[in-house]
Amino acid sequence: MGLHVRFSCIFPLICLIPLLTSGPGCSARYTEDWTSLDARPLPQWYDDAKIGIFVHWGVFSVPAYGKFSEWLWSWWKTAKRLDVYADFATQFHAEFFNPDDWADIFKASGAGYVVFTSKHHEGFTNWPSPGSWNWNSVDVGPHRDLVGELAAAVKKRSLHWGLYHSLYEWYHPLFLADQASGFKTQDFVAQKTLPELVHLVMEYQPDLIWSDGDWEAPDTYWNSTQFLAWLYNDSPVKDVVVTNDRWGKGCYCKHGGYYNCADRYTPGKLPDHKWEKCQSVDKRSWGYRRNMKLSEVMDLPSIIKDMVYVVALGGNYLLNIGPMSDGMIAPVFEERLRGLGAWLGVNGEAIYATKPWRVQTENDTNVWYTAKNNTVYATIIGWPTKQPLQLLTPKTSDATKVTLLDYPDVPLKWAPVTKQAGLVIVLPAMPFSPGNAWALKLEGVV
Ligand SMILES: *[C@@H]1O[C@H](CO)[C@@H](O)[C@H](O)[C@H]1NC(C)=O
Ligand SMILES: *[C@@H]1O[C@H](CO)[C@@H](O)[C@H](O)[C@H]1NC(C)=O
Ligand SMILES: *[C@@H]1O[C@H](CO)[C@@H](O)[C@H](O)[C@H]1NC(C)=O
Repeated sequence: MGLHVRFSCIFPLICLIPLLTSGPGCSARYTEDWTSLDARPLPQWYDDAKIGIFVHWGVFSVPAYGKFSEWLWSWWKTAKRLDVYADFATQFHAEFFNPDDWADIFKASGAGYVVFTSKHHEGFTNWPSPGSWNWNSVDVGPHRDLVGELAAAVKKRSLHWGLYHSLYEWYHPLFLADQASGFKTQDFVAQKTLPELVHLVMEYQPDLIWSDGDWEAPDTYWNSTQFLAWLYNDSPVKDVVVTNDRWGKGCYCKHGGYYNCADRYTPGKLPDHKWEKCQSVDKRSWGYRRNMKLSEVMDLPSIIKDMVYVVALGGNYLLNIGPMSDGMIAPVFEERLRGLGAWLGVNGEAIYATKPWRVQTENDTNVWYTAKNNTVYATIIGWPTKQPLQLLTPKTSDATKVTLLDYPDVPLKWAPVTKQAGLVIVLPAMPFSPGNAWALKLEGVV
């Protein structure tokens, strides 16, 4: 048993303990340091899902104004306007909020997970937090447990459930006092951050925690490693939960679960760690803006192009929408999400559960590769103007078979370019596709 456990573990150091406790499989206990926590394998569901929907909703959805509308209160800055902003909470009615309608749209997008703002930097909690008296969605505004209602609807549709959570709060008196002490005191963390995080986990059992608002203070102030060790060892979601990398100043792109790095992280080549790009359909804001113009909204081909590039480079794509304060999702956002889902309904085989291939793209073209088992997928962005289509990287054999996912069961004519590598493919005439992208399936190539 001991030997079996030892050999089934990838990380010998953290697996020494199961040798003593003889738990099943690799039930290592993580210690409260980054070396141990960073070595935790990411639960597989996350890499397989590839696509998530990010939802920014809160008191900021009431004024719903300006670039990055969720930052409005911070743009204002002056203490005098604290009260004015707080009044917006009473206008956060959510009268049309139907969590089942939302979850239907998210499911139809083809996403495998949803990440919802439980609390943004304004500190308003979208659940009845005992630590946020009169500044939560049950005491004020909607008078509903928004986190709980959406969690149930999302889980019912077999989507993974994620919670965005801001560690800091712009104007919380305890946070400001800790900050004034140079973060030598930890009253805010002891009385607010940690109890709320634990409460969220126990109450709503998230599969993903998307941490944010960490950058003002080091992870030793937030006690991030203590929290994560508890999350990975003893919480009810210890085997399934995935986290990101925003756990303290200097942490991102370095520590935690998968890497978000900066917002809209766009690496130029294959990163050596699982990562996620978050991107908003409204290019200027995460929260809803009443002053949003159509020209500022990503169109479907841009979304698909971005997502295909991200997946080819081993990332996940977290696409954001900001619902309105009345609980409606703007039809333009719904249309984009359903369009993405329609494209994935045809081409998803080239996306879900794939791995990066040995080469990510054909140079100077819009072709992106992924691979699954022994099959290679080449996704073409934009219908090629030059026919036949030439791919220089795959090495063919007599057993090579080429099909288009949108034209299934019909092998396409192809010929090698040189003895060493490459092939030309004769594409069928295809009708207009709103996604403007097509995935080729290449079997028997290396
Ligand atoms: C943070 O962790 C340290 C070390 O375990 C502990 O002494 C301290 O009390 C913790 N602080 C909070 C706020 O939990
Ligand atoms: C292909 O790979 C997936 C995931 O890696 C696996 O679940 C599946 O069984 C494989 N399919 C075949 C036909 O080998
Ligand atoms: C693309 O460019 C890189 C760097 O110049 C080169 O190493 C690689 O062989 C090229 N690949 C193809 C398919 O032309």
